[in-house]
Amino acid sequence: MTEVYKHRRQKLMEGKVFPATVCIFSGSAPMRSLDEAYPFSVDRNFYYLTGIEKENLILVLLCTAEGSIEEFLYIEPFDEVLAKWVGPRIRADEVYEISGIRQVKDIHNFRDDLNSYIERSRGAGKHHVYLDLWRYRADQSDTPAHTLATWLQQRYPAIAIEDIFPETAAMRSVKSEDELQCMREAQETTRIAIEAMMKHAYPGVNEAELEGAFDFALMKQGVRQHAFPTIVAGGANAATLHYTENCCTVEDGQMVLIDLGSTHGNYCADISRTFPINGKFSPRQKELYDTVLEAQRIVMGHAKPGITTRELNQLVIDYYESRLEDLGLRKNGLGVSDYYYHGVSHSLGLDTHDACTQRHPVLVPGMVITVEPGLYVEAEGIGIRIENDILITEDGCIDLSAGIPKTTEEIEAVMSK
Ligand code: GLY
Ligand code: MN
Ligand code: MN
Repeated sequence: MTEVYKHRRQKLMEGKVFPATVCIFSGSAPMRSLDEAYPFSVDRNFYYLTGIEKENLILVLLCTAEGSIEEFLYIEPFDEVLAKWVGPRIRADEVYEISGIRQVKDIHNFRDDLNSYIERSRGAGKHHVYLDLWRYRADQSDTPAHTLATWLQQRYPAIAIEDIFPETAAMRSVKSEDELQCMREAQETTRIAIEAMMKHAYPGVNEAELEGAFDFALMKQGVRQHAFPTIVAGGANAATLHYTENCCTVEDGQMVLIDLGSTHGNYCADISRTFPINGKFSPRQKELYDTVLEAQRIVMGHAKPGITTRELNQLVIDYYESRLEDLGLRKNGLGVSDYYYHGVSHSLGLDTHDACTQRHPVLVPGMVITVEPGLYVEAEGIGIRIENDILITEDGCIDLSAGIPKTTEEIEAVMSK
């Protein structure tokens, strides 16, 4: 894999000329209590460019005056006491083995070194410093990149701070064969764990117990990292799209919506299924379920290069519009948006809602997206979502989740075992 990471770094530096510096941080885990941190989750751009999953590291890529690229990885020095408590930090030879980066430096010298790179380039034109300045929310606290940007801007008002996120997003949105292999592995471990959960279901089970059945089946396969917090939503809880309390009893006659995913090499699966807790769809449940399934089939039939995810979503809305009357849902002034209130697709990869060039991208071969129509009839205590992950090909798509039971017959067959 070392070559893969080297190649990605080279590609990122294409078109950049002296004086230019790229700095990408691996991040660190925020504290969750007085002396305990949340589990660490590596910055996905850092991982994409290095393959390393450790805290408090900085990747620096420099354009030299001679026209070459220099690569450095800043790491924390060995700490004997810390090594006894939490294990050793990453060593220079490990850095090289994983990422192919030879030049490893002490993180304590990072800012001094950056100063000298910038000082050395004085008189050679505007120095461009590229940082990942992505923020999900405007009120989100500063990342190390934002802190560095502020510090640099104060110290060197003449340099140009550039956001590298759009470039990494463009690279990440088209998957290579290595990445697809990881994504297929994540699908398979998810499939096995979903089937285990379906077989475990019974009227009166707690949502938490179902979550446990999924987790146990994942851990039996050696998987400890989920793509995102698992959703197990019985009955009307399913109308809350990102319900994660998972603490209620699922009664006989109710359906349960699950939305969950395993990971492999940090690549995510994102699957939703909805099934009757007693193992048998009622006629009404089947009628609504098959409507969602048909919406998914329509979207998959149109998913190909050139179409946008907004257009795919419109297909779902139009189909539901045509079905509302027959389903007895066009009443009390309600319309499609009262029963379906999210988009049908998002990019999938190292992030569950993966880095992407646009909010509603035009599909191109190599993209992986979800197809997740839903229908939420809260008044009937029913919420249905069916979510598969597809790979866009030259002329259509491949359903990466095809092996996961989905039709009412397939689900009933698994649950009867
Ligand atoms: N699990 C979150 C989503 O489907 O987008
Ligand atoms: Mn999902
Ligand atoms: Mn999704």
